[in-house]
Amino acid sequence: MKTINTISELRAAVAQARRENKRIGFVPTMGNLHSGHIALIGTALGEADFVVASIFVNPLQFGPHEDLNSYPRTLATDQEKLQTAGCHLLFAPNVNEMYPHGQADQTLVTVPGVSEGLCGGSRPGHFTGVATVVCKLFNMVQPDLAVFGQKDFQQLAVIRSMVRDLNLPIRIIGKATIRAEDGLALSSRNGYLTPEERQRAPALYATLKRMANQLRSGQRDYSTLIDSGLNELRTAGMRPDYLEIRDAQTLRPADANTVQLALLAAAYLGTTRLIDNLQVDLD
Ligand code: PAJ
Repeated sequence: MKTINTISELRAAVAQARRENKRIGFVPTMGNLHSGHIALIGTALGEADFVVASIFVNPLQFGPHEDLNSYPRTLATDQEKLQTAGCHLLFAPNVNEMYPHGQADQTLVTVPGVSEGLCGGSRPGHFTGVATVVCKLFNMVQPDLAVFGQKDFQQLAVIRSMVRDLNLPIRIIGKATIRAEDGLALSSRNGYLTPEERQRAPALYATLKRMANQLRSGQRDYSTLIDSGLNELRTAGMRPDYLEIRDAQTLRPADANTVQLALLAAAYLGTTRLIDNLQVDLD
């Protein structure tokens, strides 16, 4: 696997693959790769002949008090993991390559509706940063398909809306969340947890599962369900940011008739913000 840092090298490598009639698959990441990221590469390899991954810690999607500077950067081990997984090309640009005219003058892509509330509520500007960088990366790689994790459920909805609204000829594939044995969704941010916090962390998914079971057994009083879920998170030592029941398709608040539900949660454990979600089909 080759690693390249410039857009011109990227375009040349992808053009070569196109000349060979290869279908191009793309997996954007911020690095510090774990089995969740590698599963996306596996899915891309199943659907495409030439798989491009990117590693770029995108400053535009971090708030002023967020973990941009401390975000783990582990390029050498990431390269090994991608190579072993069978990825063909790694694009690892620096900030100047991505934002040569500065971030303040960058044209932005804002996706209304699905960006609002949930993580968009607690992280103002985050999804504009995500949509903008993914739109730029899509224009650089011009893939046939791109794979994203359902772990970031709202992000996936934002990307799907952007692709639809801007008529980008790219198939978006959502990949199920990869979890540790105790249920915790794999995340680069799990590395921030102390051993004690790591033991508590599975409570987030356990709470979503318990709520899902209650929904399946006919509970429709969403506010009672949410209150008991919030209590469960607090009892586990977490500080909930949000816990919501939404329509899995539109991300609008679920009503009594919604049959495809998404339970979405974010909670702080110490200073680490964890997110997770679970889909519940009642039809
Ligand atoms: P990052 O957090 O590195 O995640 C890259 C991709 O891996 C995303 O599509 C994310 O949903 C997926 N992913 C992360 N953990 C996963 C897990 N446990 N199971 C399955 N998939 C998982 O998301 C971003 O980077 C950035 O916002 C990005 C899209 C690259 C734009 O900067």
